[in-house]
Amino acid sequence: MKSQNAGHDDARHEGRARTPSASSGGASATGRSDAARSGTARQAAVVHFENVGLRYGMGPEVLRDLTFSIEPGSFQFLTGPSGAGKTTLMRLILLALKPTRGFISVFGQDVSHISGEALTGLRRRMGVVFQDFRLLDHLTTYENVALPLRVQGREEATYRSEVVELLRWVGLGERMHVLPPVLSGGEKQRAAIARALIVRPEMLLADEPTGNVDPGLGRRLLRLFIELNRLGTSVLIATHDLQLMDQVDARRLVLGEGRLHIYD
Ligand SMILES: Nc1ncnc2c1ncn2[C@@H]1O[C@H](COP(=O)(O)OP(=O)(O)O)[C@@H](O)[C@H]1O
Ligand SMILES: [Mg+2]
Repeated sequence: MKSQNAGHDDARHEGRARTPSASSGGASATGRSDAARSGTARQAAVVHFENVGLRYGMGPEVLRDLTFSIEPGSFQFLTGPSGAGKTTLMRLILLALKPTRGFISVFGQDVSHISGEALTGLRRRMGVVFQDFRLLDHLTTYENVALPLRVQGREEATYRSEVVELLRWVGLGERMHVLPPVLSGGEKQRAAIARALIVRPEMLLADEPTGNVDPGLGRRLLRLFIELNRLGTSVLIATHDLQLMDQVDARRLVLGEGRLHIYD
């Protein structure tokens, strides 16, 4: 647990140190990205939206005129009724969807005209917990959590203890060698969280992370997210679980009828 903490801390500092040189080159020089970049001189917002709108195909606008920022090291809930657009908003932040209009910057970089490679670089700085976990059933829990590091081409010897330690941190120390179909819903949820954290993301996005667990485990997961945030990671949790949100005095981004209302 201790060295996991230190690890996250280190990753963050490395991330910051890397930011100015690695992220400001290459973006298109529109007036807006210049504006976004002058913001980076202080400390760039992790996410910035300006008048963002999104529609699927020829459908109605699901999100309308969204303007907000997520600051480094901040913690917030994203809420609103089912169908309000929480998952859609997360997919915009993850750069899995393009806005139909408006401007988005991530880690201080205008994302409207960047290369696929730069996009991958930005995505690597985010950890995601999907609503449906997306664990691979033919890999053990350990292998699932280690997968993002394998994909990066790292040797197992360099990350084995890290993965084991993280699995213990989320309470899966005894379950690391079983396949996901054997895990309970709550265990799958924690495996998905561990897989999101293993890359030491600067921002964590979790979509309804307590949707499939009992209230007790929900509270434990929330404490885990809070601790992660204390270590410096920006956290955005999409949820419509009022009981969960009432446990923390945190910022709320509330979606309704396509619009966003913010309660700081
Ligand atoms: N791939 C898609 N194609 C068309 N419509 C979609 C798609 N995904 C979501 N929607 C619609 O967008 C709206 C917002 O959905 P979503 O972002 O999943 O909301 P939430 O996560 O808050 O429940 C809903 O009306 C939904 O039906
Ligand atoms: Mg959703």
